[in-house]
Amino acid sequence: MSKIIYLIAGARPNFMKIAPLIPQLNKENIKFKLIHTGQHYDYNMSKIFFKDLDIPEPDIYLNVGSASHATQTAKIMIEFEKVLLKDRPILVLVVGDVNSTLACALVAKKLFIKVAHVEAGLRSFDHKMPEEINRLLTDQISEFLFTTEMSAEINLKREGINPEKIYFVGNVMIDNLIKNLEKARNLNYNKKLNLEENSYALITLHRPSNVDNKKDLEKIIEFFDYLRKKIKIFFPIHPRTKKKIEKFNFSNKIKKDNIILSEPIGYLEFLSLMLGAKLILTDSGGIQEEASFLKIPVLTLRKNTERPITVQRGTNTIIDKNFDQAKKYIKEILSNNYKKGQEIEKWDGQTSKRIVNILIEKLIENN
Ligand code: UD1
Repeated sequence: MSKIIYLIAGARPNFMKIAPLIPQLNKENIKFKLIHTGQHYDYNMSKIFFKDLDIPEPDIYLNVGSASHATQTAKIMIEFEKVLLKDRPILVLVVGDVNSTLACALVAKKLFIKVAHVEAGLRSFDHKMPEEINRLLTDQISEFLFTTEMSAEINLKREGINPEKIYFVGNVMIDNLIKNLEKARNLNYNKKLNLEENSYALITLHRPSNVDNKKDLEKIIEFFDYLRKKIKIFFPIHPRTKKKIEKFNFSNKIKKDNIILSEPIGYLEFLSLMLGAKLILTDSGGIQEEASFLKIPVLTLRKNTERPITVQRGTNTIIDKNFDQAKKYIKEILSNNYKKGQEIEKWDGQTSKRIVNILIEKLIENN
């Protein structure tokens, strides 16, 4: 058995979680291969992140592309199994909660290869979210469960996970953010868009629960119309959302004064924009965390969050589609009376180091 670790990345939110682990593995002379499943494949959903984050070219590209959940998950499994049958790593490390995460974990486990899950234990308790299913199942078959916040450990123990497998290491995505802060600051991307510091809002939107249903998406777009009258908006549109806007004929509803629409943008550009934003409106998981770390007000267009620490200590508020409530918070934010947010334990730039040290001690030295 070769002492090699496989790192799995497939979709946009995976790349910033894999990136900080790579220099740490290199530093410790641990051999690894990077596998890109191809779940996301557009330049601005994938390659730009490799460029921005100095991630090396993937060693193996599975080229699965978009499809229904079952087809996409199955395709990843079929292709990844072929890879694992040729070369047996000592560990398959998966991150986050996308279909690639579960598919690769399942293939590895059935071939008796250990699985490490970075960002384990987060729970929204909403089984309609595909990510929740991916999280629950991946955690059940992982040997190493690396958690970002205390709630995760409680969830995992309740689900019967052996506490010895759980490691509270902090947030690897924040490692990445800290590392890139200077570069993003120097980019001054807001100036390039003529957005004045502290006087614009950022919006991201892509959850099926928000964009797939015509009525829900319409309500949200109407709320943007309220917001644009208060503050300038920058809105990079996710491919899923773009397709739905076109399908429902909402293009004219959204193309309005004070809203800048764009294609999805790169990591550094988005971080640069976050740094100068007055507020963020999102349904992303990661942005709730990044905004909390940066102490930027963030209103989350979801019924729940699997990242409760961002509400308890961070700058996040869950608003779902309760837009009256949202207006109240926007008033608070614009008059600087919104909650300020506090530091979050172990979100300190040292998480990838903690993970690699645990792997050295518990895995590599024992093999
Ligand atoms: C996936 C993840 C979600 C994550 C999101 C971030 C799952 C179940 N969902 O959702 O957790 O928050 O990524 O973006 O894994 N498309 C393109 N180009 C691409 C990728 C996708 O045009 O590079 C289009 C395709 O039409 C596709 C649609 O976007 O059908 C959705 O892509 P998919 O990967 O299925 O789900 P996301 O909504 O991106």
